[in-house]
Amino acid sequence: MLPGTPPPVVKKDMRLNKGLFITFEGGEGVGKTTQVARLVERIAATGLNVKNAREPGATPLGEEIRAWVKGEAGTTPTAELLLFAAARAQLVADFLKPNLSRGGIIVLDRYVDSTVAYQGYGRGLDIEQIDAVNRVATGGLMPELTILLDAEPSTGLGRVDAAPTLFEASGNVPSGKRLDPENERRFEREPITFHEKVRNGYQELAKEGGRWCVIRADQPAHRVADAIWKRVRPLLIQRGVDSELLYRKQAKHS
Ligand code: TYD
Repeated sequence: MLPGTPPPVVKKDMRLNKGLFITFEGGEGVGKTTQVARLVERIAATGLNVKNAREPGATPLGEEIRAWVKGEAGTTPTAELLLFAAARAQLVADFLKPNLSRGGIIVLDRYVDSTVAYQGYGRGLDIEQIDAVNRVATGGLMPELTILLDAEPSTGLGRVDAAPTLFEASGNVPSGKRLDPENERRFEREPITFHEKVRNGYQELAKEGGRWCVIRADQPAHRVADAIWKRVRPLLIQRGVDSELLYRKQAKHS
């Protein structure tokens, strides 16, 4: 900025001409929740309209389904697939499409790739069938950017299990550990081989390139957050957001 140039005005609740849809993916305990919150905070600080949600959840049906699929009662893999799909269909209709069509920014914790990684690679369901179910649930709505937080399953699960891990040693868990209630840890309790298959699934998906951005999750949270911001910023600039606004906020955060 030239000396004497006034800083750009931060208007509240600014909307883009075209919505922006970003998803986060990864195995258990890789720090998605923390990173979603940090990204949302950074975008909101520019005055842009941004909302986040998690899958399954964010609609009354999604929250009911969440309790079912995470609970101990158990479902067959196919029932599980269809439950996640039902939650997603509701989310697309009630939350994603309306917000994106109004030029909002959505940051979503898990989406279609979770189903391919967990129910496909993890549980062994047919991936082409999963793709077909996902297409029905989403009507083809796909994110422009997918951030994959990648870490060894033993590292992430250690965090979920409340054991001291690299994440805490590196300050990657600013608000403490996230522990689900005892009766909602069905996925966390799967054997390590299941989580290795899920990780491998994500890595296979990310080979497609394009919308994928893979970030190592076993580094300090502020580094992960900066790497994410570097990928998001150009998408906002492309949509006409004043780059001065985006760089100024980054300096304040790092
Ligand atoms: P959650 O507490 O949100 O886990 P995390 O914090 O790791 O995202 O629980 C959601 C669980 O559901 C998680 O273990 C992954 C699993 N899941 C699937 O198996 N398939 C899916 O399509 C989705 C969206 C989630």
